[in-house]
Amino acid sequence: MSKTKPSQPIGIFDSGIGGLTVANAIVRELPNEELIYFGDTAHLPYGDKSADAIRYYCLRISKFLLDQGCKMIVVACNSASSVAYDVLLEFFREQALFVNVVDPLVAAAAEQNFSKVGYIATKATVRSGIYDKQLHRLQPTLQVESLATPLLAPMIEEGFVHNQASKAILDTYLSHPGFEAIEALLLACTHYPLIRTDIEAYFAHKVKIFDSTHIVAEEVARKLGQNDLLNPEKKRPHRFYVSDYTQSFEETTRLFYQESIQLEHYQIW
Ligand code: DGL
Repeated sequence: MSKTKPSQPIGIFDSGIGGLTVANAIVRELPNEELIYFGDTAHLPYGDKSADAIRYYCLRISKFLLDQGCKMIVVACNSASSVAYDVLLEFFREQALFVNVVDPLVAAAAEQNFSKVGYIATKATVRSGIYDKQLHRLQPTLQVESLATPLLAPMIEEGFVHNQASKAILDTYLSHPGFEAIEALLLACTHYPLIRTDIEAYFAHKVKIFDSTHIVAEEVARKLGQNDLLNPEKKRPHRFYVSDYTQSFEETTRLFYQESIQLEHYQIW
C-alpha cells in the first residue's frame, strides 16, 4: 500500500451490471475518481452459485483489477461480499483498500434502534447468514427476518421492471409472513435499488428502506480520505468491462447507470 497514489483508479465489480447502481453513486459522491468496472456477466447470477465458485471468480476479478493499478476494490455485490470478502483480504490486503457492500448497510440499519427488520437477498447471501450475524453483533435483541428472492436479480437484469408481472413477483415475495410488522427492509442485493420505488409503494412508505448505493459511496469516500487517497483531478474516462457481451446487457446498462456507457468485452476466463 505504501506506493499507492491518489490518481490510481477505483476497481468495482459485480456478477453483472447490478453493481452499476453502486458505481453510479460513487461517481456522484466522488466526481474526481476514475472507475474501472467489471461485470462478470459470464457467471451471472452469483446468487445460485456455491460459495467456493463465487470465491474463485472474485479472486480472479480482483487480480485483474489490481493488475490495472487499482488503489481500492469495491465488491459491489452482496453475494460476493458475503462469502468472498475475507478471502480477498487474506490474499490482497497489502495491495489495495477493500470495501464491501454488507458492512455499511448493516451499520446504517443498526444505528436506528429498530426492534424488527427484514432483508431480501440472493440465496447465496441468505445462506451465508452474514446479515443476521452482523446485525446481531451490533444489536443483539434485534429481530431479523430474511427471504431469498432469487427471481429478482435476473428479472431486473433483463430490464423487466415496473410492470404488472414484475410487481406480481415482488408482491408475492414481500407478503412473506415473516415481514409482518417490520420497521425496515434492507435491500441486500445491488440490483434491488432499481425496484426500490415499487418496494416503498408496497409497504405504503411505512417501512424504511435501506440500499447499498449512497451508503457505500460514503464509505468509499471515508476510507479514501482516511488514507489520503482522494483523487484531486480526474484525468481519464471510466472503463466498463464485462466477461460476456450481449446487446441486451448494453441496453440494460442505462437502467443501472443512468447514462449510456460502452461495455467492453474482456476475456478473463
Ligand atoms: N448483485 C448481486 C448481489 O448483490 C446479485 C445478483 C446475482 O445473483 O448475481 O448479490
